[in-house]
Amino acid sequence: MQVFNRALSGMRPTGSLHLGHYFGALKNWVDMQERMETFFFVADWHALTSDYAEPGRIKGFSLEMILDWVAAGLDPEKSVIFQQSRLPEHAELNLILGMITPLSWLERNPTYKEQQQEIANRDLSNFGFLGYPVLQAADILLYRPRWVPVGQDQLPHLELTREIARRFNHLYGGYLPEPEAHLTEAAKCPGLDGRKMSKSYGNGIFLSDTIEEITPKVRGMFTDQNRLRKSDPGNPDVCNLYPYHDLLTDAETRAEIRKGCTTASLGCVDCKKIFLDALAAFLAPLHERRAALLARPNAAAEILDEGNRRATVEARKTMDGVLDRLNF
Ligand code: TRP
Repeated sequence: MQVFNRALSGMRPTGSLHLGHYFGALKNWVDMQERMETFFFVADWHALTSDYAEPGRIKGFSLEMILDWVAAGLDPEKSVIFQQSRLPEHAELNLILGMITPLSWLERNPTYKEQQQEIANRDLSNFGFLGYPVLQAADILLYRPRWVPVGQDQLPHLELTREIARRFNHLYGGYLPEPEAHLTEAAKCPGLDGRKMSKSYGNGIFLSDTIEEITPKVRGMFTDQNRLRKSDPGNPDVCNLYPYHDLLTDAETRAEIRKGCTTASLGCVDCKKIFLDALAAFLAPLHERRAALLARPNAAAEILDEGNRRATVEARKTMDGVLDRLNF
Protein backbone atom coordinates (compact mmCIF):
# COMPACT_ATOMS: atom_id res chain seq x y z
CA MET A 1 0.00 0.00 0.00
CA GLN A 2 1.06 3.53 -0.73
CA VAL A 3 1.87 5.57 2.33
CA PHE A 4 -0.51 8.41 1.73
CA ASN A 5 1.12 11.07 3.79
CA ARG A 6 4.71 10.32 2.89
CA ALA A 7 7.14 12.36 0.81
CA LEU A 8 10.61 11.41 -0.34
CA SER A 9 13.31 13.29 -2.18
CA GLY A 10 17.04 13.31 -2.69
CA MET A 11 19.89 15.51 -3.84
CA ARG A 12 23.24 14.72 -5.37
CA PRO A 13 26.15 15.86 -3.19
CA THR A 14 27.90 18.45 -5.34
CA GLY A 15 29.32 20.78 -2.71
CA SER A 16 28.03 23.76 -0.75
CA LEU A 17 24.39 24.62 -1.31
CA HIS A 18 23.42 28.10 -2.47
CA LEU A 19 20.31 30.27 -2.43
CA GLY A 20 19.02 28.53 -5.56
CA HIS A 21 19.02 25.18 -3.74
CA TYR A 22 17.25 26.73 -0.77
CA PHE A 23 14.46 28.51 -2.63
CA GLY A 24 14.24 25.83 -5.34
CA ALA A 25 14.00 22.79 -3.06
CA LEU A 26 14.99 22.96 0.60
CA LYS A 27 12.40 25.51 1.62
CA ASN A 28 9.70 23.21 0.31
CA TRP A 29 11.22 20.22 2.10
CA VAL A 30 11.35 22.07 5.42
CA ASP A 31 7.75 23.07 4.97
CA MET A 32 6.65 19.52 4.10
CA GLN A 33 8.28 17.95 7.15
CA GLU A 34 5.74 19.78 9.32
CA ARG A 35 2.80 18.23 7.49
CA MET A 36 3.97 14.79 6.38
CA GLU A 37 6.19 11.87 7.03
CA THR A 38 9.35 12.86 5.17
CA PHE A 39 12.43 11.02 3.90
CA PHE A 40 15.38 12.94 2.45
CA PHE A 41 18.54 11.33 1.25
CA VAL A 42 21.99 12.03 -0.14
CA ALA A 43 22.13 10.54 -3.63
CA ASP A 44 25.83 9.73 -3.47
CA TRP A 45 25.65 6.82 -5.89
CA HIS A 46 24.00 9.17 -8.36
CA ALA A 47 27.00 11.48 -7.98
CA LEU A 48 29.14 8.55 -9.03
CA THR A 49 27.29 8.07 -12.35
CA SER A 50 29.07 11.16 -13.69
CA ASP A 51 31.96 11.70 -11.23
CA TYR A 52 33.25 8.14 -11.24
CA ALA A 53 36.74 9.28 -12.20
CA GLU A 54 37.01 11.55 -9.14
CA PRO A 55 35.04 9.88 -6.37
CA GLY A 56 37.25 11.27 -3.60
CA ARG A 57 35.22 14.39 -3.00
CA ILE A 58 31.78 12.76 -2.77
CA LYS A 59 32.00 11.80 0.91
CA GLY A 60 33.03 15.27 2.04
CA PHE A 61 30.33 16.85 -0.10
CA SER A 62 27.76 14.51 1.46
CA LEU A 63 28.62 15.53 5.01
CA GLU A 64 28.74 19.17 3.99
CA MET A 65 25.29 18.84 2.46
CA ILE A 66 23.85 17.43 5.70
CA LEU A 67 25.14 20.52 7.52
CA ASP A 68 23.44 22.72 4.93
CA TRP A 69 20.18 20.76 5.17
CA VAL A 70 19.97 20.93 8.94
CA ALA A 71 21.10 24.57 8.96
CA ALA A 72 18.28 25.29 6.52
CA GLY A 73 15.79 23.81 8.94
CA LEU A 74 15.49 20.10 8.16
CA ASP A 75 15.05 18.46 11.53
CA PRO A 76 16.48 14.95 11.99
CA GLU A 77 13.79 14.30 14.60
CA LYS A 78 11.04 15.04 12.11
CA SER A 79 12.58 13.80 8.86
CA VAL A 80 14.46 10.63 8.11
CA ILE A 81 17.76 11.92 6.71
CA PHE A 82 19.86 9.20 5.16
CA GLN A 83 22.54 8.20 2.68
CA GLN A 84 21.73 6.10 -0.38
CA SER A 85 25.03 4.20 -0.50
CA ARG A 86 24.54 2.87 3.03
CA LEU A 87 21.36 1.04 2.05
CA PRO A 88 22.16 -1.90 -0.23
CA GLU A 89 18.41 -2.15 -0.87
CA HIS A 90 18.76 0.74 -3.33
CA ALA A 91 21.24 -1.27 -5.40
CA GLU A 92 19.17 -4.41 -5.03
CA LEU A 93 15.96 -2.85 -6.33
CA ASN A 94 17.94 -1.02 -9.03
CA LEU A 95 19.07 -4.40 -10.31
CA ILE A 96 15.58 -5.86 -10.38
CA LEU A 97 14.06 -2.79 -12.03
CA GLY A 98 16.89 -2.83 -14.56
CA MET A 99 15.63 -6.20 -15.75
CA ILE A 100 12.22 -4.85 -16.67
CA THR A 101 13.18 -1.43 -18.03
CA PRO A 102 13.41 -1.32 -21.84
CA LEU A 103 16.61 0.30 -23.10
CA SER A 104 14.55 2.51 -25.41
CA TRP A 105 12.95 4.26 -22.39
CA LEU A 106 16.39 5.22 -21.13
CA GLU A 107 17.81 6.22 -24.49
CA ARG A 108 14.99 8.65 -25.14
CA ASN A 109 15.20 10.25 -21.69
CA PRO A 110 15.67 13.99 -22.43
CA THR A 111 18.00 14.55 -19.45
CA TYR A 112 20.29 11.81 -20.71
CA LYS A 113 20.61 13.29 -24.18
CA GLU A 114 21.00 16.82 -22.87
CA GLN A 115 23.70 16.02 -20.34
CA GLN A 116 25.63 13.85 -22.75
CA GLN A 117 25.89 16.88 -25.00
CA GLU A 118 26.43 19.51 -22.35
CA ILE A 119 28.95 17.85 -20.09
CA ALA A 120 31.80 17.70 -22.56
CA ASN A 121 34.67 17.25 -20.12
CA ARG A 122 33.60 13.79 -18.96
CA ASP A 123 32.82 10.60 -20.82
CA LEU A 124 29.21 9.77 -20.00
CA SER A 125 28.80 6.77 -22.26
CA ASN A 126 28.79 4.41 -19.26
CA PHE A 127 26.09 1.94 -18.29
CA GLY A 128 25.51 3.60 -14.90
CA PHE A 129 24.77 6.98 -16.40
CA LEU A 130 22.25 5.53 -18.82
CA GLY A 131 20.69 3.75 -15.87
CA TYR A 132 20.48 6.89 -13.74
CA PRO A 133 16.64 6.98 -13.86
CA VAL A 134 16.36 3.30 -12.90
CA LEU A 135 18.37 3.92 -9.74
CA GLN A 136 16.20 6.97 -9.09
CA ALA A 137 13.07 4.85 -9.52
CA ALA A 138 14.50 2.38 -6.98
CA ASP A 139 15.25 5.24 -4.57
CA ILE A 140 11.66 6.34 -4.72
CA LEU A 141 9.69 3.10 -4.97
CA LEU A 142 11.49 1.55 -1.98
CA TYR A 143 9.66 3.96 0.30
CA ARG A 144 6.23 3.83 -1.38
CA PRO A 145 5.72 7.58 -1.05
CA ARG A 146 2.74 9.46 -2.32
CA TRP A 147 4.80 12.59 -3.05
CA VAL A 148 8.18 13.36 -4.55
CA PRO A 149 9.04 17.03 -4.10
CA VAL A 150 11.17 18.02 -7.09
CA GLY A 151 11.74 20.85 -9.52
CA GLN A 152 10.46 20.92 -13.08
CA ASP A 153 13.75 19.50 -14.39
CA GLN A 154 13.09 16.16 -12.66
CA LEU A 155 9.68 15.52 -14.22
CA PRO A 156 10.99 13.22 -16.97
CA HIS A 157 12.68 11.10 -14.29
CA LEU A 158 9.53 10.94 -12.23
CA GLU A 159 7.49 9.93 -15.25
CA LEU A 160 9.96 7.11 -15.89
CA THR A 161 9.62 6.04 -12.26
CA ARG A 162 5.88 5.80 -12.76
CA GLU A 163 6.28 3.84 -15.99
CA ILE A 164 8.69 1.42 -14.36
CA ALA A 165 6.31 0.94 -11.43
CA ARG A 166 3.45 0.31 -13.84
CA ARG A 167 5.47 -2.27 -15.71
CA PHE A 168 6.43 -4.02 -12.48
CA ASN A 169 2.81 -4.08 -11.38
CA HIS A 170 1.67 -5.38 -14.75
CA LEU A 171 4.22 -8.20 -14.72
CA TYR A 172 3.99 -9.23 -11.09
CA GLY A 173 0.49 -8.24 -10.05
CA GLY A 174 0.75 -4.91 -8.28
CA TYR A 175 2.81 -3.89 -5.25
CA LEU A 176 4.68 -0.70 -6.24
CA PRO A 177 2.43 2.38 -6.00
CA GLU A 178 2.98 5.19 -8.49
CA PRO A 179 4.18 8.38 -6.79
CA GLU A 180 3.27 11.92 -7.80
CA ALA A 181 5.50 14.93 -8.29
CA HIS A 182 5.07 17.64 -5.69
CA LEU A 183 6.32 20.54 -7.77
CA THR A 184 8.39 23.18 -6.08
CA GLU A 185 7.22 26.60 -7.18
CA ALA A 186 9.85 27.84 -9.59
CA ALA A 187 11.68 30.48 -7.56
CA LYS A 188 13.77 32.83 -9.61
CA CYS A 189 17.29 32.88 -8.18
CA PRO A 190 19.66 34.46 -10.67
CA GLY A 191 23.40 34.24 -10.09
CA LEU A 192 25.53 37.28 -9.34
CA ASP A 193 26.33 37.69 -13.05
CA GLY A 194 22.80 37.16 -14.38
CA ARG A 195 23.27 33.53 -15.41
CA LYS A 196 21.62 30.71 -13.49
CA MET A 197 23.13 30.44 -10.01
CA SER A 198 25.51 27.52 -10.12
CA LYS A 199 28.56 26.41 -8.23
CA SER A 200 30.45 25.74 -11.45
CA TYR A 201 29.85 29.30 -12.72
CA GLY A 202 31.32 30.81 -9.54
CA ASN A 203 28.32 33.14 -9.28
CA GLY A 204 26.67 31.82 -6.15
CA ILE A 205 25.70 33.05 -2.71
CA PHE A 206 26.13 30.04 -0.44
CA LEU A 207 24.10 29.26 2.66
CA SER A 208 27.34 28.91 4.59
CA ASP A 209 28.83 32.24 3.35
CA THR A 210 29.45 34.78 6.10
CA ILE A 211 28.05 38.26 5.66
CA GLU A 212 31.64 39.45 5.19
CA GLU A 213 31.95 37.08 2.24
CA ILE A 214 28.59 38.04 0.84
CA THR A 215 28.97 41.82 1.01
CA PRO A 216 31.51 42.21 -1.83
CA LYS A 217 29.57 39.66 -3.91
CA VAL A 218 26.41 41.70 -3.63
CA ARG A 219 28.28 44.96 -4.34
CA GLY A 220 29.43 43.52 -7.64
CA MET A 221 26.09 41.96 -8.51
CA PHE A 222 24.41 42.80 -11.81
CA THR A 223 21.21 44.83 -11.54
CA ASP A 224 19.29 46.43 -14.44
CA GLN A 225 21.86 46.47 -17.22
CA ASN A 226 20.17 49.42 -18.90
CA ARG A 227 20.46 51.62 -15.85
CA LEU A 228 23.83 53.27 -16.28
CA ARG A 229 23.50 56.20 -13.89
CA LYS A 230 21.62 56.61 -10.64
CA SER A 231 19.62 59.40 -12.31
CA ASP A 232 18.27 56.94 -14.90
CA PRO A 233 15.03 55.23 -13.90
CA GLY A 234 15.41 51.47 -13.50
CA ASN A 235 13.15 48.55 -14.29
CA PRO A 236 12.75 45.94 -11.54
CA ASP A 237 11.22 43.52 -14.04
CA VAL A 238 14.51 43.11 -15.88
CA CYS A 239 16.73 43.63 -12.82
CA ASN A 240 18.94 40.73 -11.77
CA LEU A 241 18.65 41.63 -8.09
CA TYR A 242 14.95 42.40 -7.79
CA PRO A 243 13.74 38.76 -7.83
CA TYR A 244 15.46 38.40 -4.46
CA HIS A 245 13.28 41.12 -2.99
CA ASP A 246 10.31 38.98 -3.99
CA LEU A 247 11.79 36.17 -1.90
CA LEU A 248 13.18 38.07 1.08
CA THR A 249 11.61 41.52 1.43
CA ASP A 250 8.17 42.38 2.82
CA ALA A 251 5.46 43.68 0.49
CA GLU A 252 5.50 47.23 1.80
CA THR A 253 9.25 47.67 1.36
CA ARG A 254 9.00 46.03 -2.03
CA ALA A 255 6.48 48.62 -3.16
CA GLU A 256 8.82 51.38 -1.99
CA ILE A 257 11.74 49.80 -3.85
CA ARG A 258 9.74 49.51 -7.03
CA LYS A 259 8.62 53.11 -6.83
CA GLY A 260 12.08 54.37 -5.91
CA CYS A 261 13.75 52.42 -8.71
CA THR A 262 11.34 53.40 -11.47
CA THR A 263 11.46 57.07 -10.48
CA ALA A 264 15.24 57.10 -10.03
CA SER A 265 14.99 58.18 -6.39
CA LEU A 266 16.48 54.91 -5.14
CA GLY A 267 19.84 53.87 -6.53
CA CYS A 268 21.18 50.35 -6.92
CA VAL A 269 23.70 50.84 -4.11
CA ASP A 270 20.90 51.55 -1.62
CA CYS A 271 18.73 48.79 -3.04
CA LYS A 272 21.62 46.39 -2.47
CA LYS A 273 21.87 47.56 1.14
CA ILE A 274 18.24 46.62 1.68
CA PHE A 275 18.96 43.24 0.09
CA LEU A 276 22.03 42.66 2.25
CA ASP A 277 20.08 43.44 5.42
CA ALA A 278 17.29 41.08 4.39
CA LEU A 279 19.82 38.40 3.51
CA ALA A 280 21.62 38.81 6.84
CA ALA A 281 18.31 38.42 8.70
CA PHE A 282 17.42 35.36 6.63
CA LEU A 283 20.81 33.70 7.09
CA ALA A 284 21.22 34.42 10.82
CA PRO A 285 19.20 31.41 12.05
CA LEU A 286 20.84 29.17 9.44
CA HIS A 287 24.29 30.20 10.62
CA GLU A 288 23.26 29.67 14.21
CA ARG A 289 22.10 26.12 13.54
CA ARG A 290 25.26 25.42 11.55
CA ALA A 291 27.45 26.64 14.40
CA ALA A 292 25.58 24.45 16.87
CA LEU A 293 26.18 21.43 14.62
CA LEU A 294 29.84 22.22 14.12
CA ALA A 295 30.27 22.39 17.88
CA ARG A 296 29.34 18.70 18.03
CA PRO A 297 32.06 16.47 16.61
CA ASN A 298 30.72 14.12 13.89
CA ALA A 299 27.23 15.62 14.03
CA ALA A 300 26.54 15.04 10.33
CA ALA A 301 27.76 11.43 10.45
CA GLU A 302 25.61 10.75 13.50
CA ILE A 303 22.52 12.20 11.87
CA LEU A 304 23.10 9.91 8.90
CA ASP A 305 23.71 6.83 11.06
CA GLU A 306 20.39 7.31 12.77
CA GLY A 307 18.54 8.10 9.52
CA ASN A 308 20.11 5.10 7.75
CA ARG A 309 18.80 2.88 10.50
CA ARG A 310 15.27 4.24 10.23
CA ALA A 311 15.27 4.13 6.41
CA THR A 312 16.53 0.55 6.35
CA VAL A 313 13.43 -0.67 8.13
CA GLU A 314 11.20 0.67 5.34
CA ALA A 315 13.50 -0.22 2.47
CA ARG A 316 13.95 -3.80 3.63
CA LYS A 317 10.23 -4.27 4.03
CA THR A 318 9.55 -3.20 0.45
CA MET A 319 12.48 -5.18 -0.93
CA ASP A 320 11.32 -8.37 0.76
CA GLY A 321 7.88 -7.82 -0.72
CA VAL A 322 9.38 -7.32 -4.18
CA LEU A 323 11.41 -10.53 -3.96
CA ASP A 324 8.32 -12.30 -2.76
CA ARG A 325 6.41 -11.16 -5.86
CA LEU A 326 9.15 -12.64 -8.02
CA ASN A 327 9.01 -15.86 -6.06
CA PHE A 328 12.68 -15.54 -5.09
N1 TRP B 1 18.07 13.25 -9.86
C1 TRP B 1 17.89 14.10 -8.71
C2 TRP B 1 18.59 15.43 -8.95
O1 TRP B 1 19.51 15.51 -9.72
C3 TRP B 1 18.44 13.47 -7.46
C4 TRP B 1 17.70 12.22 -7.07
C5 TRP B 1 18.20 10.96 -7.07
C6 TRP B 1 16.35 12.16 -6.61
N2 TRP B 1 17.26 10.08 -6.64
C7 TRP B 1 16.11 10.78 -6.35
C8 TRP B 1 15.34 13.10 -6.41
C9 TRP B 1 14.87 10.34 -5.89
C10 TRP B 1 14.10 12.66 -5.95
C11 TRP B 1 13.87 11.29 -5.69
O2 TRP B 1 18.22 16.40 -8.34
